[in-house]
Amino acid sequence: MSIARPALSGQVAIVTGAGRGIGHAVAMAFAHEGATVVLVARTRQELAATAAAIRDSGGSALAIPTDVANDGAVEATVEQAYAELGRIDTLVTAAGTAAFGPVIGTKPTDWDTMLTVNLRAVMVCCRAVLPLMVRQRRGTIINIASVAAQRPIPGAAVYTATKAGVVGFSRVLAEELRADGVRVGVLFPGAVDTPLWDSIPQGPDRSRMLRPQDVARAVVLMASLPPGASLEELTLLPSGGIL
Ligand SMILES: NC(=O)c1ccc[n+]([C@@H]2O[C@H](COP(=O)([O-])OP(=O)(O)OC[C@H]3O[C@@H](n4cnc5c(N)ncnc54)[C@H](OP(=O)(O)O)[C@@H]3O)[C@@H](O)[C@H]2O)c1
Repeated sequence: MSIARPALSGQVAIVTGAGRGIGHAVAMAFAHEGATVVLVARTRQELAATAAAIRDSGGSALAIPTDVANDGAVEATVEQAYAELGRIDTLVTAAGTAAFGPVIGTKPTDWDTMLTVNLRAVMVCCRAVLPLMVRQRRGTIINIASVAAQRPIPGAAVYTATKAGVVGFSRVLAEELRADGVRVGVLFPGAVDTPLWDSIPQGPDRSRMLRPQDVARAVVLMASLPPGASLEELTLLPSGGIL
């Protein structure tokens, strides 16, 4: 009887936002599937905790504290990851932030962090891995958008604009890279019970949200399909009927 190899055995994945929430769960799941995971976020203690959890369960991780809003830092992180690990198979952009409220009650300066982290930094992270992936003639990029990009949610206009931007960017990037063997996918999760909701006490019932591990399973699926198949857009909703 042969024993199946883990789906991502021998691969290297960069996961942004890996300190908590969805990125943490994705990093754990990728490590479980045999990938060496490069953990990216700003908070060192959270990255160290994710790395320790991965190593404790027999996996392999490299934590590189990085502010994805800093273009040079992102490029240096990708360079370090490649220098130490020799390949980059997958990029998952799960670093993100959310602030909600009606447009009339916000100022343009309130929007800047979301625009920078949720949209601009996603583009910068993708751009940073492209030369390597094109040279390898393989690679998978999975950007975490949101169901907000598909359905209007009052109070989420700016957040939605960042996520819709990610979707448009990803669709064009997928076409630009198709001939190079690089896949680009976007995941549209509904509400997920993560620390992102801690500052929004009036938010939806967290017990009815998706678990971060549910999202991680979808990301693993997108990353582990054979090279000839590309799962480019996937919507994952809590089955209980809330966003
Ligand atoms: N939770 C949901 O309901 C939900 C639903 C759909 C989509 N999403 C999307 O999924 C992604 C992850 O959300 P989450 O719920 O997991 O959020 P979370 O629990 O708040 O975690 C966010 C992660 O992003 C990192 N991050 C934030 N700003 C960063 C920066 N400038 N540089 C590097 N890392 C940064 C954080 O680490 P540091 O603060 O330490 O840097 C943290 O590790 C976001 O894009 C979010 O919009 C979430």
